[in-house]
Amino acid sequence: MNIVILTGAGISAESGLGTFRDIDGLWTKYDLNDVATPEGFARNPDLVHQFYNARRMNCRTALPNDAHTALARLQRDCPGEVDLVTQNIDDLHERAGSRSVWHMHGEVTRALCDACGHRWDAPERMEPSDPCPACEAAATRPDVVWFGEIPYFLDEIQDRLERSDLFVSIGTSGSVYPAAGFVAIAAGAGAQTLELNLEPSDSSSAFTEIRHGKASELVPAWVNEVLASAK
Ligand code: OAD
Repeated sequence: MNIVILTGAGISAESGLGTFRDIDGLWTKYDLNDVATPEGFARNPDLVHQFYNARRMNCRTALPNDAHTALARLQRDCPGEVDLVTQNIDDLHERAGSRSVWHMHGEVTRALCDACGHRWDAPERMEPSDPCPACEAAATRPDVVWFGEIPYFLDEIQDRLERSDLFVSIGTSGSVYPAAGFVAIAAGAGAQTLELNLEPSDSSSAFTEIRHGKASELVPAWVNEVLASAK
């Protein structure tokens, strides 16, 4: 069985990382146009670096929870292909032991040079004046995808979705495209579709099965079911 899993901020909520659109979410405290667009970065790079420096710091002190750990176990023990696609810029999947995570919105732990495209491990704090280690231009940014930019790995993800037997969406509001459209691609390819989320998402109606609750409870229970049925 080929399984494609999409995760969002809800899977890291119980690790202490904030979501975006919940009542106390990041987009209630910050204007995404200021901190998550190329135009915002051009206007005020200091503010944008401060925002992502804080995200990077939170990420370093957070620990993977039972949902991340269960997905790593699934990838290790499931006889079929298990592709993990995340909208999250944190590294909690990797730190839980997952391999080959498709970070479609980039990674806060990585830096990117806007001038030459070089990528490297981000220092704890980035500043607008930081020189690129390759070309020395002071044009460095977090290696994250902003609104108005094209997410990473879309061809690879499309290919996996078209070959999937089961698509599972975990902890995402289903409100940001293209990720919100993955369920329709998988369903169009004949896959079963399952949503695991705290509450109904904006795209719940597109799923064949929906379970509501905390990721740290729903995900390990679902992984146990899959591994038991694969025996
Ligand atoms: P959102 O904040 O939009 O949605 C998080 C979802 O997780 C909500 O539906 C919550 O109900 C759910 N949730 C919260 N706590 C949970 C828990 N403990 N267990 C399970 N579910 C829980 O976050 P995303 O959907 O990830 O993009 O947001 C998508 C994209 O929008 C992000 O990648 C980011 C953001 O703007 C960019 O910055 C480009």
